[in-house]
Amino acid sequence: MSNSIFGLIASTPKIKKPKSIASLQLMFIVRIWKALGEDRRLIVWSVIFGLLFTGLGIVPPLLVREMIHWLEDGGSAGNFALLGLLVAGVYGLRGGMRYLYGLMSHIAAYRTLHRLMNSVYRHVQSFSPSYMNRQHSGNLVARTIGDVEAIEDFIAHGIPETMLALVIPLTMSVVLFVLNWKLALIALLPLPIVAVAVYLMTTRVANRWRSVRGRFADLSAMIQDHLGGLPVIQSFTHEAESARRIQREGQKYRDSIIQANRWSLVPAGIIEAASGAGLVLILCSGGWMAAGGPLPVDVADLVVFLMYLGQIFLPFLRLANLMENLQKAAASAERVFELLDTPSTIVDRADAVVPAERRFDVEFDSVNFSYRRDLPVLRDVSFHVSEGETVALVGVTGVGKSTACHLLVRFYDVESGSIRLGSQDVRTLPLEYLRSQVALVSQDVFLFQGTIRENLLLGNLNATNDELREAAQTANAEKFILSFPKGYDTLVGERGVRLSGGQKQRIAIARAMLKDAPVLVFDEATSAIDAETESLIAEAVKRATAGRTVLIVAHRLSTIMAADRILVFEEGRVVESGTYEELVAGNSHFARLCRHQENVMW
Ligand SMILES: Nc1ncnc2c1ncn2[C@@H]1O[C@H](COP(=O)(O)OP(=O)(O)OP(=O)(O)O)[C@@H](O)[C@H]1O
Ligand SMILES: [Mg+2]
Repeated sequence: MSNSIFGLIASTPKIKKPKSIASLQLMFIVRIWKALGEDRRLIVWSVIFGLLFTGLGIVPPLLVREMIHWLEDGGSAGNFALLGLLVAGVYGLRGGMRYLYGLMSHIAAYRTLHRLMNSVYRHVQSFSPSYMNRQHSGNLVARTIGDVEAIEDFIAHGIPETMLALVIPLTMSVVLFVLNWKLALIALLPLPIVAVAVYLMTTRVANRWRSVRGRFADLSAMIQDHLGGLPVIQSFTHEAESARRIQREGQKYRDSIIQANRWSLVPAGIIEAASGAGLVLILCSGGWMAAGGPLPVDVADLVVFLMYLGQIFLPFLRLANLMENLQKAAASAERVFELLDTPSTIVDRADAVVPAERRFDVEFDSVNFSYRRDLPVLRDVSFHVSEGETVALVGVTGVGKSTACHLLVRFYDVESGSIRLGSQDVRTLPLEYLRSQVALVSQDVFLFQGTIRENLLLGNLNATNDELREAAQTANAEKFILSFPKGYDTLVGERGVRLSGGQKQRIAIARAMLKDAPVLVFDEATSAIDAETESLIAEAVKRATAGRTVLIVAHRLSTIMAADRILVFEEGRVVESGTYEELVAGNSHFARLCRHQENVMW
């Protein structure tokens, strides 16, 4: 991948270590079998119905044979109407069996798909945000839906049809051998050759399909990223370059898939040619077969041979497709299972307990943290926020303020040192307890598609209407909410109203108020707001902080003024701490910050 902006946003994790195809398939089959769970029963039923379906397919040519025998005897002995009824019955049953075997396998497949998708989603949800960064998101969606779907396809079609593809030629061959083993030897001569040729060919193309899918993943991730970043691309008038890159990536995909098809279509040709070979062999040995020759043959048997020969090679064609299907599903399964096997890093310790004594002071003790090993973000950060105190974190952009907030709720774990909530290291607390005690208002407010009410209720699903309104009032949000015709039931997001930065922030504050947690972490948004909104937010913050332990990342003087104490961050360290009055005088870092930034924000 190149180092350009496009290269960066388009980079997708590649399939890491290429395992051998055989081991991959084995792993895949074992895990699919496990994933099927109790639906294995349905697969067994599907195979049973499939076998009945196949068995019934053997019957009609034998009935035709019977009819010919009757005709040879002058037709008097036979009951042709009964024969017709029997054939109709066989085909009717066959239809039923086909329906049932397809139905069973599809039910099993979609139930397994649903379970797999749930477990992938549940698992991904437990990942720390570091895993969920932008580069991954496209790929994760592909994994949760696309890959799981490929596995479904394999269960629905792969398992039962592979069985049938093996059983049909086998049973038909047995019948042919019983009827006339010499003729069977001649007619079935091409069968093993075709089987071996198809096997060799499909394993040969397996690797090519693997690379096709890799290319497809690259392409779709790139398209998704480019479309996601379309405003950026448009604002830099990079459309032409973006289209060129998509075209180049698409070209690689196109070439690889054409190359794969060049080989993967060969087996179909071989099978087509070979299916005539049996017939040719029978025709060539026709002289021998003439009555009394070394290979006497009954005409009725010959008809059965011809009817079977038309069907016996077809399963190989299916098998060739199925191999492809299996490759695809195995590659998808590898990615899905790899994801399921990725351990979540932020999990409850085995000995995590809810503390008996509930205190809510916050302490950072010599905290060191970095996202990447070589780039320390927080260095030896120590500070204490007493219960009920409001402490503001200030500092230039990128200094690690949001990071400190995220460490408190354990989006990440500290590298060294510790963070304590009421004297308990946050890593020793159950995650659910920790996060229920801390309400976080993030810098980038995220609102879900839905109504304002639904977004607010995330704070507390059981809140009453009065509580909801009270929270909105505290956050100074009710006025603008009620200005919409539908009030609290106004849709937000793509299909609803677009809220301004200041409005979103007040919704976020209201949401945190509803949660009513003893600790509030407020990471102020940096988006510019007008003076009136600023004072509305400042008022909301003041009300919200009352009686709580508060960590507030402040970019505006009005927010800073709401704090009891100010911590100044510089290059990942706390360089100053004090009240506004103490800090603003003299030549402090804080005073310099204020002078440079002219009162507004940094
Ligand atoms: N998820 C992440 N992965 C890697 N690096 C990150 C991540 N989030 C932040 N950083 C880096 O860590 C440093 C601190 O970021 P942080 O968001 O804590 O800064 P901040 O003080 O909140 O800045 P701002 O005032 O702009 O919000 C920055 O250099 C940033 O690039
Ligand atoms: Mg920040």
